Amino acid sequence: MSGIVGYVGKANAPEILVRGLRKLEPRSYDSAGMAITENGGITVVKTLGTIAALEKKARAQWAPDRARAAAAGIAHTRWATHGNPSEANAHPHLDASGKIALVHNGILENYRALRSFLESKGSRFVSETDTEVLAHLVGWFYTNDIFQAVSEALRRVIGAYGIAAVSALEPDHIVTAQCGSSVSIGIGVGGSIVASDTSVIAEHTQRIISLDDNEVAIVRVDDVEVRNLGGIPVSRTVPELDEVEEAVRKNGFAHFMLKEIHEQPESITDAIRGRIDFENATAVFSSMDAAPCKISELTRVVMLGCGTSRHAGLAGEYAFEELADIQTEVEQASEFRYRNPILDKHDFAIAISQSGETADTLAALREAKLKGAFVTSICNVVSSTLAREAGRGVYLRAGPEISVASTKAFTSQVIVLLLMALKLGRGRRLSRERGLELANAIASLPDIVRRTLPVNDVAKRIAQKIKDVEHIYFIGRGTMYPVALEGALKVKETSYIHAEGYQASEMRHGPIAMLAQGTPVIALACCDEAERDKMIINVEECRSRGAYIIGVINAGDTEAARHMDEFIEIPATHPLVAPIPAVIALQLLAYHLACLRNCEIDKPRSLSKSLTVE
Ligand code: M6R
Repeated sequence: MSGIVGYVGKANAPEILVRGLRKLEPRSYDSAGMAITENGGITVVKTLGTIAALEKKARAQWAPDRARAAAAGIAHTRWATHGNPSEANAHPHLDASGKIALVHNGILENYRALRSFLESKGSRFVSETDTEVLAHLVGWFYTNDIFQAVSEALRRVIGAYGIAAVSALEPDHIVTAQCGSSVSIGIGVGGSIVASDTSVIAEHTQRIISLDDNEVAIVRVDDVEVRNLGGIPVSRTVPELDEVEEAVRKNGFAHFMLKEIHEQPESITDAIRGRIDFENATAVFSSMDAAPCKISELTRVVMLGCGTSRHAGLAGEYAFEELADIQTEVEQASEFRYRNPILDKHDFAIAISQSGETADTLAALREAKLKGAFVTSICNVVSSTLAREAGRGVYLRAGPEISVASTKAFTSQVIVLLLMALKLGRGRRLSRERGLELANAIASLPDIVRRTLPVNDVAKRIAQKIKDVEHIYFIGRGTMYPVALEGALKVKETSYIHAEGYQASEMRHGPIAMLAQGTPVIALACCDEAERDKMIINVEECRSRGAYIIGVINAGDTEAARHMDEFIEIPATHPLVAPIPAVIALQLLAYHLACLRNCEIDKPRSLSKSLTVE
């Protein structure tokens, strides 16, 4: 099943086209290609095989600056119908002048007759395809108006088509048309996108229209004009992004934050998929195999990130130290480059970022690279700057995260880090038995998370009780300390209540003085028994100062429950993966606090989803 993507706009066209093709990847294809208008000409790259191979070629062809200057582009995945799978037969195809490029889904029944006609007029074909015939036919009719030429050509063809075409001489628009093979158009901000599958478009905009058969559209950066094949305008209103569409995108949830919290069983499944090698009790990350020295010779792991991404690093730190037996540091990316970090090729630097665009994390990555560390990235947004600059890395596969408050990206980041620690550990001294134990615990997470989400109701009830407080303290020990930090950050950014996360035993070194009658302390007591007992001591210290203790405890832990005023029970699991269900309980608590305080949940004041300034 072939697929079409087209883009005209101000963003990086080759990147958007590759991203679109990736969405179409589940359809069968044997080759792929793209054509970009630039500097009065058209550049085409094609490949037999995967989109990854096409992406590599496209990156070599268009450095980021050059790509941004590109105006319009079309791309295609081909499933051979006329002619073998080959680069020559892959789309886009050019006309005889090389100034028009065209991609096509469907079959043109009269292409042989059209080809003979064009050959008699001097056309020379380089492929066996019906599509190249159509490209030449468009060129034959072309007189500086690609819309006109496409309409003329399509009036002469018999068969099915969905097409997109660009002209080097009119780089400000794409022409698209359909008859029996659908194309849709999305009008976004600063760019428009054309695709044979609306899922490609939905990622960019909800202002989507679909063509009917025998309609041709001129798609510009910010508008679309539809006509029939005879050139008569067809009235078509591009829908505004109204509340109804918002609701559809939110899939019935009141906010993206809540939707994304509930997406975690799936996002976690995706983060894990294909990455556990049970037979060898290890993880599969080819990017880690590129280290300049043996995994066993790495001496240090340095994680770089900001905000939630740094918290994920802190949660991963325990696993690296415990499983891989390697010194691990988690750095605030914003400070890292202003020190004089000492790094060399035995240091493994991991830059962590949901957006892949955070300026501080990018700068830290560059510094680590410069100092010769072996660098990698963990990003959610595909082809983000960080992912590209790192040159190798791992994607979270969490899907778009719209809510500014990061939720599903955090859990996927932690999981990817655990898997990396597993791989590093197995390349060093970690036994198969312990490796397998963690692998099984990670594999069980989608189910654990499904069983955690019903705590929503308890979280809501507790939020109702504490919604008017001024301060909330989160305390945790071991792997629960990063969870405490993350819980506090979620509360701060969504409900604007002052919140802090502390290592539980640190409370007595100062913060405990802040506790007054009724101050909520969220105690993360969902750890193993030894840690839990120590936590109970910390809890009692806080309680004796009047704190209102809300425990997050393992289901059925009656001993822990006895020491809490309120508690949220989550499924018990391996201590290294326990941050996942624990943080979900806190995400839900933060969400309900924000709701009850009528805060703008998905777009909190003063915050933005990706911080591209220092
Ligand atoms: O896109 P990044 O992961 O690099 O973003 C880093 C932080 O800005 C981000 O995690 C921020 O702290 C979130 N709003 C937290 O919910």
